[in-house]
Amino acid sequence: MKKRPKNPSPASSAPGAARPPVIILGVTGSIAAHKAVDLTSLLVKAGCEVHTVLTADAQQFVTPLPFRTLSRQPVVTGLYDTDDGWKPRHVALADLADLLLIAPATANVIAKLAHGIADNALTCIALALNERAQILVAPAMHGRMWRHPATQQNVATLKQRGVQFIGPEAGLLSCGYEGLGRLWPVEDIARHALVSIGARTD
Ligand SMILES: Cc1cc2nc3c(=O)[nH]c(=O)nc-3n(C[C@H](O)[C@H](O)[C@H](O)COP(=O)(O)O)c2cc1C
Repeated sequence: MKKRPKNPSPASSAPGAARPPVIILGVTGSIAAHKAVDLTSLLVKAGCEVHTVLTADAQQFVTPLPFRTLSRQPVVTGLYDTDDGWKPRHVALADLADLLLIAPATANVIAKLAHGIADNALTCIALALNERAQILVAPAMHGRMWRHPATQQNVATLKQRGVQFIGPEAGLLSCGYEGLGRLWPVEDIARHALVSIGARTD
């Protein structure tokens, strides 16, 4: 598969241009999901239009409310969410995105992305994503899940397709273990996201 071009059209998506950069923030079922609330706030303050997509498992950890309030956008909670328009919401967002950012990303969603599985709103957006959009993935999981050859192979496959990764970092994991698997600090994820779409980071 062809690699995605980096920074394809910064002029059209930079803050101050005709429209703000559009980031689709996918949040998955990790104990780190609450950190995506702060990430949303940072991206909105940086001038981005942020549309949040929560997987069903993410909704075991966080609710749509803080994302809806901070992003001032409806939150996608399922593939069959109703909308005013005729276009399915996941297709509309896949068309609109400058960046698909998945933070935190579970081992499960990384596997689905690597294998082209499209069984929820987030994975459907990933598969239908317009070609100029970047993908940035910030994994968070138990160290053994991260080190597992299946996960490492999935990450390698995605990198080969031009998907960017940030983290995970080493430290104390919520499960009580020490290891590599913590979500990278959200300030750095936000900075990386803005750089990858060619937006200003100051
Ligand atoms: C308390 C708890 C914490 C979890 N944390 C993680 C995690 O950090 N990373 C991960 O890959 N899976 C984690 N899981 C497992 C995922 O929630 C599970 O694989 C789920 O199917 C992921 O669904 P999603 O990728 O569609 O959001 C956790 C499960 C529980 C019960």
